Amino acid sequence: MSRVPVALSEGRDYEIHIGADSLAALGPHCAAVAHSSRAVVVTQPRIARHWEAGVSQSLERAGFQVESVHFPAGERYKNLTTITRLYDALYQLTPALDRKTLIVALGGGVVGDMAGYVAATYLRGLDYVQVPTTLLAMVDSSVGGKTGVDFREGKNLVGAFHQPRCVVIDPTLLQTLPRREVRSGLAEVVKYGVIQDPQLLTTLREQAGLLLRGDAEAIAAVVERSCQLKADVVTADEREETGLRAILNFGHTIGHALESATKYRRYKHGEAVAIGMISAALIGEQLGVTPSELTQELRATLVALGLPTDLPDDVSDETLIALTARDKKAEAGEARFILVKQLGQVELMTVPTKLVQVGLTTHRQGLGLD
Ligand SMILES: NC(=O)c1ccc[n+]([C@@H]2O[C@H](COP(=O)([O-])OP(=O)(O)OC[C@H]3O[C@@H](n4cnc5c(N)ncnc54)[C@H](O)[C@@H]3O)[C@@H](O)[C@H]2O)c1
Ligand SMILES: [Zn+2]
Repeated sequence: MSRVPVALSEGRDYEIHIGADSLAALGPHCAAVAHSSRAVVVTQPRIARHWEAGVSQSLERAGFQVESVHFPAGERYKNLTTITRLYDALYQLTPALDRKTLIVALGGGVVGDMAGYVAATYLRGLDYVQVPTTLLAMVDSSVGGKTGVDFREGKNLVGAFHQPRCVVIDPTLLQTLPRREVRSGLAEVVKYGVIQDPQLLTTLREQAGLLLRGDAEAIAAVVERSCQLKADVVTADEREETGLRAILNFGHTIGHALESATKYRRYKHGEAVAIGMISAALIGEQLGVTPSELTQELRATLVALGLPTDLPDDVSDETLIALTARDKKAEAGEARFILVKQLGQVELMTVPTKLVQVGLTTHRQGLGLD
């Protein structure tokens, strides 16, 4: 079992525990950080079927009284209506919850973001622990304290920063996760490779076969490295104030636009980000910032991992550009992109709409990518 510390000020620092035996150790990890012996597991039905018994058992053995609330799976449920239903479910529990109750978020990014937001707001804030069950959540969303929901077309438009008390990652939980979800999670690992760690990109290409087959050791290693990289960024810029944390948005400007344009139904988050990373690289080429060899290497890595790289024909450039102007990074309607100068070196830049357009056209034509 390995430990990755997330260093934050004012007693908010916490640890990420990673290992194939960590589900069994969940109870003790929670007991070490909780202020009460009452825990409420927030999860989705399918995850509950596979893993809730093990989670409850581990918590009960450590002395917790465990209850649980479920909500339906799918990005379309990541909204304030579901949040209200979760508040209701918590309100119905007897005796009434107090502020010391521990929330346990058992699930992927949707559960983590929703349970985290409930924990940030119910009774003005409860402690919570992240137990990610998707690769995307293990390498990204469970770390860093961003919680929230989608609002109208805006992804994650309503939310709060609320750090978990700890994160417990057991890669064994991926055994029941569909392969497509595993590939989607690997896209975020590719992202870390591009923005922070060129060696990781090489590892991903070399171990693509093992990773796609779900090899526990290979997966645990990339999860640990990803958590270290994300923890570094979160420590340096917890609330996205200095601009450093924004580097994690590489590939997300177009990625989010694609998800929104296709109503969050066609693409898994990581798939949209994979396509968005290629767009960002090609836009970077237009500005003379990104070398074309880098785009090629990025594309080769995504292809090796079975991720999509092409823009869909039925979503127009105009639609994508209009959506990027709504992106949280946008300033005065001009889209801002994380552009890569070289592997491990990125910059947040405002890009004139015209150049975004040229970049997207290049992407559609597949120019320079063969
Ligand atoms: N807070 C952050 O910093 C952050 C970062 C990245 C992404 N996100 C958010 O994460 C969300 C995407 O998360 P995701 O990709 O994990 O999707 P998800 O949470 O929707 O999970 C995908 C599907 O897999 C199922 N599932 C999860 N774990 C399983 C398991 N072990 N076995 C079987 N089925 C399982 C879920 O029920 C769901 O149907 C998006 O809403 C995105 O905005 C947040
Ligand atoms: Zn992402």
